Amino acid sequence: MTGIKIDGKEIAQSVKDRVRKAVSELKNIGINPCLATVLVGDNPASATYVKNKHSACEEVGIITKDFKLKTETTQSELNKIIDELNKDRSIHGILVQLPLPGQLDEFATTSRIFPLKDVDGLTPHNAGLLAMKKAALVACTPLGVMEMFDYHNIELGGKNIVLINRSNLIGKPLYHLLLARDATVITCHSKTKNIKEWCKMADIIITAVGDRNKFTLTPDMIKQGAIIIDVAISKHNEKLVGDADYEQIIQKASYATPVPGGVGPMTVAMLLKNTITAASLSSQIER
Ligand code: GUN
Repeated sequence: MTGIKIDGKEIAQSVKDRVRKAVSELKNIGINPCLATVLVGDNPASATYVKNKHSACEEVGIITKDFKLKTETTQSELNKIIDELNKDRSIHGILVQLPLPGQLDEFATTSRIFPLKDVDGLTPHNAGLLAMKKAALVACTPLGVMEMFDYHNIELGGKNIVLINRSNLIGKPLYHLLLARDATVITCHSKTKNIKEWCKMADIIITAVGDRNKFTLTPDMIKQGAIIIDVAISKHNEKLVGDADYEQIIQKASYATPVPGGVGPMTVAMLLKNTITAASLSSQIER
């Protein structure tokens, strides 16, 4: 028996429908939600991600401001732009696309964003609030994964969940979100011994490595009926792939996400949701 596909495009559409309604409510009270994106350099993947974010904003009526900076941009030039965006009352959300060119400091950059405009949830303020279960703005990909669980009414309390990622954007926020829902959460990473043994104990595996030469999640590594959320996307043999082969893993899993068409569309949908949250926060509207 094969498992059930968790269809990111379908779930993202349901989020977008809700956001579209919230946008028109905000417009009715004189708030025009606006997201500013900052892209430094010419990384083609990053340029595509930013373009997709702009099209999604347009679909739901969110205004966008697009800042494209040269690869050689200095930290002080970037800081100046962030400071201007922080001050601009017409802008509700600020997203600096990562990764940044080597001369720029990601922590210094993301920490500079005003926390109420931090739609990536990356500022120390918002990351700290998340650990305290008080966050309003949480990283988009982890939020998208939670939305997928909720859409399928997947119970998380008491489940053994293995994360294969420890980044600030994915593994760490997911750890807190899942812990807050009473799951037992294990974070695996490049130095973890016997990843396969951890995976075999998991009711749910959320994997985000993104390099098939380093890691592939295969059916022999999971238990029958496990739930597999594949956050990774990379090119392998000229094909876009996740950490697992969806067609193989779904034979053993009870639920799994495909790549593409799984978590990817959710990240963009949750960015829209965070922009609305930021717009509401800026005007002190509880939502
Ligand atoms: N690069 C890859 N994913 C993300 C994301 O969610 N936010 C930002 N700012 N950069 C990214």
